[in-house]
Amino acid sequence: VLCDIGFIGLGVMGKNLTLNLADNGYKIAAFDLEHQKIEDAMAQDKAESGSGGRIIGCSSYTELLSILKEPHLIILSIPAGDIVDDVCHKLVDAGIKADDIVIDTGNSLWTDTVRREKKYLGKFYFFSTAVSGGEIGARFGPSLMPSGDRYAWTRVEPVFQAIAAKVDPNTGKAIERFEPGNPVKEGEPCTTYIGPSGAGHYVKMVHNGIEYADMQLICEAYHIMREGLSMSPSEIGKIFQQWNQGVLESYLIEISAEVLLEVDSETKTPLVDIILDKAGQKGTGLWTAVSSLEIGSPAPTIAQAVYARSLSTLKGDRVSASSQLKGPEIDPHLIADKTAVIESLHDALYCSKICAYAQGFQLMQMASDEHDWSLDFASIAKIWRAGCIIRAAFLQKITDAYQLNEELHNLLLDPFFAEQINTYQSNWRKAISTATLMGIPNGAFSTALAYYDSYRCETLPANLLQGQRDYFGAHTFERKDKTAGKKYHVEWAKPDRPIVKA
Ligand code: 6PG
Repeated sequence: VLCDIGFIGLGVMGKNLTLNLADNGYKIAAFDLEHQKIEDAMAQDKAESGSGGRIIGCSSYTELLSILKEPHLIILSIPAGDIVDDVCHKLVDAGIKADDIVIDTGNSLWTDTVRREKKYLGKFYFFSTAVSGGEIGARFGPSLMPSGDRYAWTRVEPVFQAIAAKVDPNTGKAIERFEPGNPVKEGEPCTTYIGPSGAGHYVKMVHNGIEYADMQLICEAYHIMREGLSMSPSEIGKIFQQWNQGVLESYLIEISAEVLLEVDSETKTPLVDIILDKAGQKGTGLWTAVSSLEIGSPAPTIAQAVYARSLSTLKGDRVSASSQLKGPEIDPHLIADKTAVIESLHDALYCSKICAYAQGFQLMQMASDEHDWSLDFASIAKIWRAGCIIRAAFLQKITDAYQLNEELHNLLLDPFFAEQINTYQSNWRKAISTATLMGIPNGAFSTALAYYDSYRCETLPANLLQGQRDYFGAHTFERKDKTAGKKYHVEWAKPDRPIVKA
């Protein structure tokens, strides 16, 4: 019997995606350059299904094509970068045909995806589907962001609908069942056609930018409790568990609590205290920040989250600076009411989170306008309700906001979110003041607040800035009292200019 789907790349994500596909009734022809990985996937298939045979290992691209049903459907789960083109070239050499589909599920840069779709046109359909959800998501239901050729999508759609995470339409919450061989079939699948070539990878990139901001905000709340309130990791873990019962309910809060509650088996101390404070990154947060700068759609909290990771890697500098640079004198009254400080941190996290999502969604909106993608933000928020790393009850509220108003310019203007920030902003400001007066860095919290305060500001000091630019560079300015678009220039420094000063 021929296989339904070819699968290339059996790393952690790839292996779990093949098992997920197998649970949903697809027979897989699998290939990896490391033969051991093929053996491992087949062994796990056998262990889980009893008989095995749902995943068939192949020793070459040619063999993979030969045991696949036509037209071929091939999924790649390989690292982003040149290797994607290498594999595509090998498939062409092995005889892939124009009607075949190759799906890139890696974290590829969206412009590479656009280039590839054009490059392979006529040789095969290059289709992209960004995947979020980590190992567990891949195994039992990720969130999938497909984009590219519409015809290719009609062939891919049933497969992705089957393996995606599912949401209960009545509650807006994930239907979770982590049982091999018993996939969730009911509910709304967390996948939707995102748009033309590259749009899916762009949307996934912004998902990751938001993920960076979300994570950094949680880390700042932790830092302030740990350093400012001298709380233990387990105490903070328990606070996060409480927060996970309310408006902050999310996968990232849940796992942060678990990380904080973990005790190192070797030293019997909290594991988080042993983990070196140098953050890694693979690039998607950086790409989001760069894109926001290029498009001119401010995403300062996302960019700050990337900077915070960079700053963390300057460990040597920080260690020597810590004994040379002084912080403020701390007024003990600041933290006299510990419960109130914790509550203010909760509210600061919530308001900042709303701003980070507002930045990410507005960025996608501007990119959508620029590239003519017609992104549907209610649907994007919907498929992020389950399966992905930023999954949270909160995403239902964003879905509601865009369903209420498709033309919404910024989430901050949605009546629900506007009211939420209004309710919690006083504590948000208090948390930032407390942290700042104690000298504890809170860049993500404070850039979020600066974003909010700037966005709601009718008049910004850019009038003075335009004056400065015109002064030294004759860059001109517009006048409020004259026709919009008309440019004015003043000979600011001309020696014989009549001086009219206030
Ligand atoms: C996801 C994750 C996933 C991956 C990130 C992490 O949505 O499943 O975002 O894509 O874990 O690439 O990236 P960093 O290494 O940059 O934190």
